Amino acid sequence: MKQMLIAANWKMNKTRVESESFANELLSWVEKNNLRSKILICPPFINIPFVYNILCKTAVQIGAQNCFFEKEGAYTGEISPQMLVSVGCKYVIIGHSERRTHFGENDEVINRKIKSALASELKPIFCVGETLNEREMQLTNNVLERQIRIGLCAIDSNIMENIVIAYEPVWAIGTGISATTEQIDEAHNFIRKLLVDLFGNSGKAVLILYGGSLNSNNAYEIFSLENVNGGLIGKASLDVKEFIQIVEKSEQILS
Ligand code: 13P
Repeated sequence: MKQMLIAANWKMNKTRVESESFANELLSWVEKNNLRSKILICPPFINIPFVYNILCKTAVQIGAQNCFFEKEGAYTGEISPQMLVSVGCKYVIIGHSERRTHFGENDEVINRKIKSALASELKPIFCVGETLNEREMQLTNNVLERQIRIGLCAIDSNIMENIVIAYEPVWAIGTGISATTEQIDEAHNFIRKLLVDLFGNSGKAVLILYGGSLNSNNAYEIFSLENVNGGLIGKASLDVKEFIQIVEKSEQILS
């Protein structure tokens, strides 16, 4: 049966009070509903414990938006996977295009982060996706293949079930214009085939999320696609009512 993960990436948004208010409203909704979809909330580091404290008795899981690859040491401003685990995180977003663009993360750094997260039993949500320029030059599949081959280099197929991939075309992020269902279908099918080529049967179990201007209006159509296992949602995840509506679309797919 299809598995669905609906993940909120709050990016650099929400104060403590705003985070707690979202978490309390989500709490009262999840307590009244028996959900088949998995829900994940990724607040900024500093608000993780506050959100965790409110949601820890539910099935909603908490994740971070980044981590460093070292365990500890003189790395001012960084956070290790172990620290994230110690405050209740189960997932960490790695290689988001905003990290690649603004903080110079390359495929090799991303590979080290993925391996480090896995070693701490933190599940990486590994983001891949092409820029508009790359799409226009018909390089989408080449870019996805390079990002995945290097990002997942030297990772054993028997731990692939702990990895989630998020296809996020850079040009669709924060623009209000999502990729078309045809474009999403094509990219997700390509990623699935590549994962099976690289990791055999283990590649079939990897969840592949779509991200990029996903909202309650386009979620149902996107979630219906065979190789889409949920979404990584930015702007539309900041409003709890909108986020819940997106989860409801996923529930309709699974019912
Ligand atoms: P938007 O949903 O705001 O386009 O952001 C998508 C994203 O980057 C999620 O990681």
